[in-house]
Amino acid sequence: MMNRKDEHIAIAMNQKTKSNAFDRICLESNDLSGLKLSDIDLRTSFLGYKIPYPIYVNAMTGGTDKAYEINKYLAKLAQYFDIPMISGSQSIALKDESKKESFEVIRKYHHGILLANINPNYGLKDAKRAINMIQANGLSIHLNTIQELIMPEGDRDFSMWKENIDEINQNLDLPLLVKHVGIGMSQKTIEILKSIGIKYIDVSGSGGTSFIDIESTRANKNYNYLKDFEIDTATILLDLINEKELEIYASGGIRNPLDVIKALVLGAKAVGLSKWFLDLTKLPFEESIKAVEDFILVLKKIMIIIGAKNISELKNVRFEVNL
Ligand code: FNR
Repeated sequence: MMNRKDEHIAIAMNQKTKSNAFDRICLESNDLSGLKLSDIDLRTSFLGYKIPYPIYVNAMTGGTDKAYEINKYLAKLAQYFDIPMISGSQSIALKDESKKESFEVIRKYHHGILLANINPNYGLKDAKRAINMIQANGLSIHLNTIQELIMPEGDRDFSMWKENIDEINQNLDLPLLVKHVGIGMSQKTIEILKSIGIKYIDVSGSGGTSFIDIESTRANKNYNYLKDFEIDTATILLDLINEKELEIYASGGIRNPLDVIKALVLGAKAVGLSKWFLDLTKLPFEESIKAVEDFILVLKKIMIIIGAKNISELKNVRFEVNL
C-alpha cells in the first residue's frame, strides 16, 4: 500500500484546475497610468520579513523518499527566487526521528525564509522541536478538522487545539502563522484566533486542492456533501476586507498570476501556492525556473494593466464582484 503522504501527492497532482470565486472578481484596468515595466516593484513582507515577490511555496510534504525529492526540488526553487517556503507537516518526524531527513533537506537547499509546520495537537515543546529540526524562521500551524475526521486514521480529539495555539503564540519568540488547508478559515475560527491574539493568518480557502476530494478518494467513500463547509478563498478575503488587526495571507485555488494580484487587491499581504508549485516538480528544474520567471513577469504586466506601481498601491485598485 502507498504511504499516506505519497497518496496525497499523487491524488493532488491529478486534481484538475477548476473555476473558483476569483473568476467572479474583476479588476479595473487603466490605460493611462503612465507606468513602465521597470517601474514595477513587487516587494512585500511575510510575517515581518522582507521578500522580493508576493508569493510563497505553501506547505505540502515530508516523511517519504518521494517527499524528500519534492522538498529538495521546491527548496532549490524557493532559494533561486528568494521566496518563502513552508514545510509540510512535521508531525511524522516528531513521532519518528528517522523521518527527519526529508524535512532537513529543505534547509539544506533553501537559505531564505522557512516556516516549520505542525498541527495544533502539539504544544510549545514540540513546536520548538519542529522549528529546530529545520532551523526555521517561524512556525505555521494548520487547522484541518474536517480532513482529520474523514481520514480513517485521523484525529478524533480536538480539545487542546485552542490552548496549544495560545500557549505557542504566547511563548514563541518567532512569528506564528495559523493556516487552513484549502477548505477555508471561517469567520468564527478567525474570531477565536483574534481573541487569543493571533496576528498572522493564511485563510487557505477552497477553489484549488480539495482535501475532501483527496480523502474521499483515499477512503473510497464519497464525502462530497461535506463541501458545504468549504469557503472560497476570494469569498473569505471579501469578508475580511475591513479587517485591521490581522495580517492576512491568502492561499487555496491560486492558479495564475491574475489570481495572485486579485488576492493582493482584496487585502492579502502575500499569496501561497501549493498545487501550482507541485505541478512544476514534474518538469526539469531549468524549465521550472523559466515558469516562475514568466509568472513574475506576468505579475508585473498585470500591475501595469491595473495601474499599480507597487504592492501598497493595490489597495486603490477598484474591483467588481460579479454574482
Ligand atoms: C497540502 N497542504 C498542507 N498544509 C499544511 O499546512 N500541512 C501539510 O502537511 C499539507 N500537506 C499538503 C499536501 C499536498 C499534496 C497538498 C497539495 C497540500 C495544504 C496546502 O498548504 C494548501 O493550504 C492547499 O493545498 C490549498 O492550496 P492550493 O493547492 O489550492 O494552491
